[in-house]
Amino acid sequence: MSNDRDVTNSENHTRSQLAESSQDVGVNRSANATIGDIIAARFSRRDFAKGALGVAAIAATTGSLAFDTANAQAGAPAAASRFGFNEVEAKVEPNHAVADGHDADILIRWGDPVLPGAPAFDPHAQTSESQSKQFGYNNDFLGYFPMPGAANPSAHGLLVANHEYTNEELMFPGVGRQDVRSVAFAKMTPELAAVEMAAHGGSVIEIRREGGKWSVVPNSKYARRIDATTPMEITGPAAGHPRLKTKDDPTGKRVLGMVNNCAGGVTPWGTWLTCEENTNFYFFGALDEQHAEAKNHKRYGIPGNVQAWGKYHDRFALAKEPTEPNRFGWIVEIDPFDPSSTPKKRTALGRLKHEGAAGTINKDGRYIVYTGDDERFDYVYRFVTNARVDRDNPKANADILDNGTLSVARYNADGTLTWLPIVFGEGPLSPDNGFHNQADVLIETRRAADLLGATKMDRPEDIETSPVTNKVYVALTNNNRRKAEQIDAANPRTDNRFGHIIEMVPPDGDHAAQTYRWEILVRCGDPAIADVGATFSSETTRNGWFGMPDNLAIDHQGRLWVATDGNSGASTGRADGVWGVETEGAARGTSRHFYRAPAGAELCGPCFTPDGETLFVSIQHPGEADDDNGPAATFENPSTRWPDFKPDMPPRPSIVAITRKSGGKIGV
Ligand code: FEO
Ligand code: CA
Ligand code: CA
Repeated sequence: MSNDRDVTNSENHTRSQLAESSQDVGVNRSANATIGDIIAARFSRRDFAKGALGVAAIAATTGSLAFDTANAQAGAPAAASRFGFNEVEAKVEPNHAVADGHDADILIRWGDPVLPGAPAFDPHAQTSESQSKQFGYNNDFLGYFPMPGAANPSAHGLLVANHEYTNEELMFPGVGRQDVRSVAFAKMTPELAAVEMAAHGGSVIEIRREGGKWSVVPNSKYARRIDATTPMEITGPAAGHPRLKTKDDPTGKRVLGMVNNCAGGVTPWGTWLTCEENTNFYFFGALDEQHAEAKNHKRYGIPGNVQAWGKYHDRFALAKEPTEPNRFGWIVEIDPFDPSSTPKKRTALGRLKHEGAAGTINKDGRYIVYTGDDERFDYVYRFVTNARVDRDNPKANADILDNGTLSVARYNADGTLTWLPIVFGEGPLSPDNGFHNQADVLIETRRAADLLGATKMDRPEDIETSPVTNKVYVALTNNNRRKAEQIDAANPRTDNRFGHIIEMVPPDGDHAAQTYRWEILVRCGDPAIADVGATFSSETTRNGWFGMPDNLAIDHQGRLWVATDGNSGASTGRADGVWGVETEGAARGTSRHFYRAPAGAELCGPCFTPDGETLFVSIQHPGEADDDNGPAATFENPSTRWPDFKPDMPPRPSIVAITRKSGGKIGV
């Protein structure tokens, strides 16, 4: 979800821009250092290496305080990239486009059948019963699981998709935006809310590639819809804590549904990690400021009052169930091969606005999960399991994520990074600060991280580890509220509208180490505008630059594939899409435009098959207004009717399968 405007609950913004608006008062008010103690590091590492401190006469507003290593900074010509495709043109069009020599085929759309018996999609008469059997709305994260025993594991598998949120103005005829103040949900009904709840969550589909083309296997025994009503288990240190108990669940261990599932991860033991992000949106009404949970909820921007569900369901009405929000904001683990399995909310990984949960097996065998808290001025986290992954017996890892150490990152100005353990009883995480056990610490992960002195980041989105180099990439999408006095080495730009990508380097590839090194791979935005301060390599063309990095994938050569969110709304003259970015060698920092999303859409979920020959991408909220100053987008008047282009059919979020016409790996 894009989060770019400070216009919450006013008509003049797109649905996808909500999360960064004023209801995400998750605004971090802690006093963590953002500049004073790091002024000394006003020079880039490259400057130090060249002994050229004198050239680093730095204007704080352009923020050259950091460790920028893209070639544009070095003043030396970059080498051509190794990407073997011609770029698509950066612009906004109703249709999508992929680099020459590739096919971009629609795999599944909102409303297409997932479960047996799903009725044909009829957007003029949608019901919750239909929706609960059909592909949900706003597909985000994609994860691919090869089918065990498949002749070609990259041609037959399960694909899982998150369904992050709903756009009632694009989904329902005659409804328009309902969360704006002047409307106040006037046209919402219990049945529309039920459709929305059924359109959330996730889907599991079985897919197969035959004759070069992917299709969904109908009536698969693996097919599953998970939504905002699916029974789930709460596990780990916070399970059963009184702050997780409600009238409906006196155990504190059972919860219905998951919401706002953004990105995620695929574990080596064959499970899907799906991350609850802007859960504040779903809580309605108000809570007495004297209530014991009031301060906790405020730190998470609760209530968001973006969905009307609380009008019809007590558990989403904050005054009636003040602890229900504590049961959302977790990483959920699901076994996609067992449709009867109960999804588990893993509390050991903390409660925050999780973007993703990509991981890696550490050299000592423990599993590592990196997860970003997507809010302006929030943090980057790492979880290290206590146990080692059992590679021979996947089932033995079933509950490995319930025990481990969650830490939060402090990016030091000397180019080191310190992981600060979030452990009850250590440092400030004590009864003096209102924490009485690890459950308290995990329920209020953000406040614990505030007290530890974590570095306030420019909205951490995906974090991915390169299997080639063991370096870890962090997409920081933007932060239009960072002021000059708030810049620091890791977040060096004021009004950071275009974001940047940080590269973290574990020592000797040890992802459990307490200290890493870090650098900025690239500052995003248009390199032709000096004030933007972008640092793409000089080989990067006018099509090759991008803003707002969000989701990341890494190919077999260790190159980044960056999906963006928010370019059109920010008037960059381009739609969102996929760009390939070189990470190593002389071409480091060279970016090339591979795929362009249709108007109004955000690009999510880039996911390669194991052979690198297919890239699946998620098109989320096509048809939203692509110009903040233009007309509002509605069911009747979307900015595109992609992918069907029929006058009576609204735009439909869809998964796209990208392959090379001639066969072979993408992007070589
Ligand atoms: Fe749902 Fe952080 O994007
Ligand atoms: Ca995202
Ligand atoms: Ca985003």
